Amino acid sequence: MKKVGRICISVPSPLLAEFDEAIKAMGYPNRSKAVQDAMRALIAEWKASGAVEGEVNGAILMVYEHDKPGLVAELLDIQHENEDLICSTMHIHLDPENCMEVIAVRGDAKRIKALMEAMKTKKGVKHLKALLV
Ligand code: NI
Repeated sequence: MKKVGRICISVPSPLLAEFDEAIKAMGYPNRSKAVQDAMRALIAEWKASGAVEGEVNGAILMVYEHDKPGLVAELLDIQHENEDLICSTMHIHLDPENCMEVIAVRGDAKRIKALMEAMKTKKGVKHLKALLV
């Protein structure tokens, strides 16, 4: 059995009430599992912020307008320049205007952050989020 740590935390009552309502609606059996998931989500957000050093694994989710002039070529150029970070890419044609890509990445956290920023700032990229673990 894994070792567990026990914590006792103070939470403003309205926040706790909202949290309990949310986790009940989501089907969590108890607070412990929900708080653990919240902690993992916060750590993943921290990793995605580029604040961590070293190797990370994860996925970038990006939605963009595929008929924006030059955008597809720019995004492909950026990805080719970072081919050593990209394990795999899945492309989904969402509708006549929009494409979605799921880009699996592995490598240096700071380089992955730079890769994300290079794509995110291109005109026509509507969403770009990453989950890095
Ligand atoms: Ni497409």
